[in-house]
Amino acid sequence: MRILVTGGAGYIGSHTAVELIQAGYDVVIVDDLSNARREVIDRIQEITGTRPLFYQINCADKKALQAVFAGNRIDAVIHFAGFKAVGESVKKPLQYYRNNLDSTLTLLEVMEEYGCRKFIFSSSATVYGPENPHSYREEMPAIQSSSPYGWTKVMIERILTDYTTAHPDFCAVLLRYFNPIGAHESGLLGDDPNGIPNNLMPYIARVAARQLEKLTIFGGDYPTPDGTCQRDYLHVVDLAVGHLKALEYAMDHKGVEAVNLGTGNGVSVLELVQVFEKVNHIKLNYVIGPRRDGDLPAFWADATKAKALLGWEAKHSIEDMCESAWRFVLHSNVQ
Ligand code: UFG
Repeated sequence: MRILVTGGAGYIGSHTAVELIQAGYDVVIVDDLSNARREVIDRIQEITGTRPLFYQINCADKKALQAVFAGNRIDAVIHFAGFKAVGESVKKPLQYYRNNLDSTLTLLEVMEEYGCRKFIFSSSATVYGPENPHSYREEMPAIQSSSPYGWTKVMIERILTDYTTAHPDFCAVLLRYFNPIGAHESGLLGDDPNGIPNNLMPYIARVAARQLEKLTIFGGDYPTPDGTCQRDYLHVVDLAVGHLKALEYAMDHKGVEAVNLGTGNGVSVLELVQVFEKVNHIKLNYVIGPRRDGDLPAFWADATKAKALLGWEAKHSIEDMCESAWRFVLHSNVQ
């Protein structure tokens, strides 16, 4: 079975490509490398012993995408490609809407042309917005968001739902990720954003590596046990395995399903910092600073649907996440 992985050179896409190849799937990656590196394809090969087919294209380039479908009989698509920085999306809303929506619409048009009916979408817990109480359950109204990035997820979920209504043979699984962190155990793949990281774990890793001076913890006066925000951090390899489970489900089903991928547990920023220090024997330089605009105090998944529908649950501990994230940095620095 041949799977098209859009954004397959990115953080979550590359880990998913590895799991797919190791499970025996043929993998075709398309990625425009706007926020990823070509060497990731070499590393996927190094880990799996198989080189995925790779096309450097943007999914909104219809002719290029048609050529990929014409040259490879694609059985299913896992769609990761998209801009993903919350803060940047507030400053550049048009780029976010244009890129994320255009690429998905073009992909769906080309899939229709080539009779491909299985779609796994990289959605986000951000679709629950600021109004729903946590833990978040899939049946809650997921129609809000607090950034243009988040709205693109809401809109794409809507597009996929409407498309599935119009094409009852289609299957779309909307995977709502919580906070993926950590790295592949080989140390070869991990979260390696361009520039100064926005997300917590890559920021911590760069402070630990002395590439950034100190971590600012955004807010110490939230109504949480230690005053810092709580999130549902999950290991990126668990998340990648979730895509395999969703794919297996989609192969035998029709219709649209939203599924949370999270552990179901909240961990605070301070707790994560302390676990990172402990398992890696590193002292992190940090200060508690003001709150960051748009952050919610706490949220985590109700992860029961993922287990019931897909037979998936997160396996790795917070310790595994912190240890593997650091191993990736150490490995990258000796390359
Ligand atoms: N944080 C810090 N200091 C930093 C970076 C982050 O204290 O330098 C804190 C944040 O305030 C937050 C927590 O660490 O409490 C996690 O922040 P991240 O930026 O890593 O993740 P978010 O929860 O803000 O964002 C995630 C996903 C988005 C998604 C969003 C929905 O990365 O894709 O959840 O709220 F849209």
